[in-house]
Amino acid sequence: MKSILVTGLDIGSTYTRAVIGECVREFHRPEVKVLGVGRTPTDGVRKDQVTDLEAATDTARRALQEAELMAGMRVDRVYVGVSGEHVDANRSVGVVAVAAREIVSSDVKRVHAVARAVPVIRDRELLHAIPQNYFVDNQGGIKDPVGMSGTRLETELYLVTGCSAVVGNIVRGVERAGYRVQDTVLEPIAASRAVLAEDERELGVAMVDMGGATTGFSVHYEGRIRHLEVLPFGGNAITSDLIRGLSVPFAEARRIKELHGAAHARGLDPDELVELPRTNGSRREVSRGMVEGLVEERLENMFRRINRRLQDVFPQVSMGAGVVITGGVAVTPGILAVAKKSFGAPVRIGVPGEGLSGLMDVVDGPGYATAAGLALHGADYFMDTGGGVSTVASGMVTRMGAWLKEFF
Ligand SMILES: Nc1ncnc2c1ncn2[C@@H]1O[C@H](COP(=O)(O)OP(=O)(O)OP(=O)(O)O)[C@@H](O)[C@H]1O
Ligand SMILES: [Mg+2]
Repeated sequence: MKSILVTGLDIGSTYTRAVIGECVREFHRPEVKVLGVGRTPTDGVRKDQVTDLEAATDTARRALQEAELMAGMRVDRVYVGVSGEHVDANRSVGVVAVAAREIVSSDVKRVHAVARAVPVIRDRELLHAIPQNYFVDNQGGIKDPVGMSGTRLETELYLVTGCSAVVGNIVRGVERAGYRVQDTVLEPIAASRAVLAEDERELGVAMVDMGGATTGFSVHYEGRIRHLEVLPFGGNAITSDLIRGLSVPFAEARRIKELHGAAHARGLDPDELVELPRTNGSRREVSRGMVEGLVEERLENMFRRINRRLQDVFPQVSMGAGVVITGGVAVTPGILAVAKKSFGAPVRIGVPGEGLSGLMDVVDGPGYATAAGLALHGADYFMDTGGGVSTVASGMVTRMGAWLKEFF
């Protein structure tokens, strides 16, 4: 297998991150050897939507050029993350008659085409179509129907759509920066690709990517993505509480949060004092306990809302592997104990690791989950197309993505 470069670009509400890697090994899953990363504060994008094209273009260029400098090479194609409240997902069913006695891959393609043939509203576009289940002559629970015998093939697809204008503007920003967009990928799909282990996906797991303005949420069981959602809150909500609670401006609240912010569970002296910026020349201090109380209360509130979504969507399913938390907020000291209490389930912090090698230390923070996952997604895509690996029915999101490109 010839080696290629794969580049992920995550334009987040707080930071924009780029990861350049080399797709190095051919197993049943590829490995990405990290060569370079770039990170820059995001400008021109609010809540995952471009608000200033010029500034967004500069942001993308800065992050990519920094990664290129570290890698010592130029890249031309990138996998770009898409997120935001405009994202929507629905299930759709398709049925076809099987002509021969054995199901072949063209039958699977046909049944996917039927399930996908739902009217997509004019200004929306299909981002991913993820197979959930196959039925052959009414027998369900089939992961890959190719080679089975039957006369009737049915599938259920999970269709993820986004607003065309929002997606189009992100793509335009990246292209104006001088790069080609190889594919657009929903950010929670990318983040979960980088932080979840295969056995967790089988057992049942919820992935929570807490960024600045949004929280990406995905649920997996029996090896497939079952639910995707972008929730409209994140670390900025903690900053807002500190602005109100401590009467300090935004930048100061964020600084205090990132320096002293922790949940009580960390066990530091709550009476220790944290200095605030002077007002009218006079010294102001608050107790660490007060800062931690505000942080913990907001974290609890956000976890409760996420847990409620989980219960609403899957009241019957138990997440055997619990919850994996990633994204910039995940570095908050004490977050694990708060999450365990709120979810009443096992929780761990997810950092990029699965399928990665090379300069691991530059991507090992939870904030890099999405960017690293985008590069891994690129490697999956290459394995499927360039690497010559076959069938559409394998059920991997990327393979469906590649397949969708053939049909649109
Ligand atoms: N040391 C820290 N302690 C607490 N919070 C932190 C720390 N470092 C970063 N954060 C918070 O993490 C959030 C940013 O996370 P991340 O970089 O994953 O977001 P993003 O991808 O830019 O945003 P989004 O995913 O919403 O588009 C911010 O709210 C930031 O204040
Ligand atoms: Mg993010």
